[in-house]
Amino acid sequence: MENNIKPVTSATFQKMKKNNEKITMLTAYDFSTAKYIDESGVDSILIGDSLGMTILGYDTTINVTVDDMLTFTKAVSNGVKRALVVADMPFLSYQVSMEQTVLNAGRLIQSGAKAVKLEGASDFILMQVKRLVESGINVVGHLGFTPQYINTIGGYYIQGKSYENTLKLLEAAKKLEDSGVFSIVLEMVPEESAKYITENLSIPTIGIGAGKYCDGQVLVIDDILGKYPGNIPKFVKRYANVREIMQKAISEYNSDVKNGLFPDNEHSFNLTEKEKNKLEYCYNK
Ligand code: KIV
Repeated sequence: MENNIKPVTSATFQKMKKNNEKITMLTAYDFSTAKYIDESGVDSILIGDSLGMTILGYDTTINVTVDDMLTFTKAVSNGVKRALVVADMPFLSYQVSMEQTVLNAGRLIQSGAKAVKLEGASDFILMQVKRLVESGINVVGHLGFTPQYINTIGGYYIQGKSYENTLKLLEAAKKLEDSGVFSIVLEMVPEESAKYITENLSIPTIGIGAGKYCDGQVLVIDDILGKYPGNIPKFVKRYANVREIMQKAISEYNSDVKNGLFPDNEHSFNLTEKEKNKLEYCYNK
């Protein structure tokens, strides 16, 4: 670790909430993207199981395995010096038994993550959180729309849309806080509900489609860069059109090769005159 870089930790998150400083988080799945995000001063990088869609091309996050997460966690961690690296625990990696939960989370930590994130707040999940924290593993919660429950939720629906449901979300958030999570991602929750939840927790909330009053914000990197070819949710702001840049560059390469314009002299290696002459002599024999 370079001396002048102070890594962001769970304690930094806590301090930022106290000081009303916004926390920034983006997803990353590979070494170079993680490096650029880290160098840009973003506070935290999430190896989201959204990689099931953005990298692996599935329709949902359900297909992602612990082994998938380990590969991308290693790649991202290798590019990061400052940001807090959080790895998603994929579907079924923390729902079966305490033993499996701790082993799976431990493997993600041993691959370079500094914390893991899991979805929901059932009694079983709360027990897993407590055990992970007791084992020395930092945990981020995830409430609101929880993509791993897509089949039971039935679709991409906004959560906490009524007063009663907002109170239910807050109750779940408080239980997670009491169980030891150091932060909670709130996904697709009305701004006013997220504000109420945020103001009633002592740990920071990180919003995605949850409005401006959360303590921090997270988005999927492929969405903000305009790289993902699928639908983009309403809450995403696109900052670039990387898809167009990639398509243009790839088409130019294709056409250059087909038309004999690449490789040119600038991109080729040549023999010395002496060696070339010897070769030519061979041709002419
Ligand atoms: O998987 C993911 O990228 C996430 C974010 C959307 C919060 O969980």
